[in-house]
Amino acid sequence: MRLDQLLQSQGFGSRNECRRMIECGRVSVGDAGIIRDPDTEIVLERARFVIDGVEFIYQRHVYIVLNKPADFECSHRPERYPSVFSLLPPDLVRRGVQAVGRLDSDTTGLLLLSDDGQFIHALSSPKKAVPKCYEVIARHSVPDTQLEQLEAGVVLRDDPQPAKAISCERVSETIVRMSVTEGRYHLVKRMIAATGNRVEQLRRVAIGGFQLPSSLAPGEWRWLESDELQLLGWKASE
Ligand code: URA
Repeated sequence: MRLDQLLQSQGFGSRNECRRMIECGRVSVGDAGIIRDPDTEIVLERARFVIDGVEFIYQRHVYIVLNKPADFECSHRPERYPSVFSLLPPDLVRRGVQAVGRLDSDTTGLLLLSDDGQFIHALSSPKKAVPKCYEVIARHSVPDTQLEQLEAGVVLRDDPQPAKAISCERVSETIVRMSVTEGRYHLVKRMIAATGNRVEQLRRVAIGGFQLPSSLAPGEWRWLESDELQLLGWKASE
């Protein structure tokens, strides 16, 4: 791939902006050092490049995990709170990164983001039925009968189609961990409401076999490792 195309693909600006950056001597590539010809062909495999002293490795697609804080919206055009995309560097946002299924503005925890449409589809399509595990802090204590109802399936107030938890366990009197495979709007809150209780706080803690990393503070993000992508049932192509 040509150097100007490579920089553009990584979100560093328009083709012309990237060409100018290169011509000005702001870009060096691996052992070759500064390259001023934007048409130089670059071998993509593990290409490392430095722009203004900051090193980047070529990544065909973006796969990242964010610990979503409360009071952020998962939309590129937020209405009330800042967007989760404001927590990411501009070059990633420019690549067209999307949230893999939205969380409500007051829901916290595991949010995956990617610019790979197939990855987003594989994890969020109802047909794929990938389990999403939530930790629910309920207003009232959660008796066994409510857990049983959630596992048997509850009818939501405004939707005749029953919703089911694939697993549901009590962590303490008012805290429950439940997994669902659907992504219907406010699903967990509406399911808990259907049992006569109420969600006070909601945090997503896992998607498929991948748990929210405990090292990520709210608002922090990082790239997913290839073994983590595998836990999500995904093998990233180079
Ligand atoms: N269910 C909800 O009610 N809210 C979320 O943010 C996610 C699942």
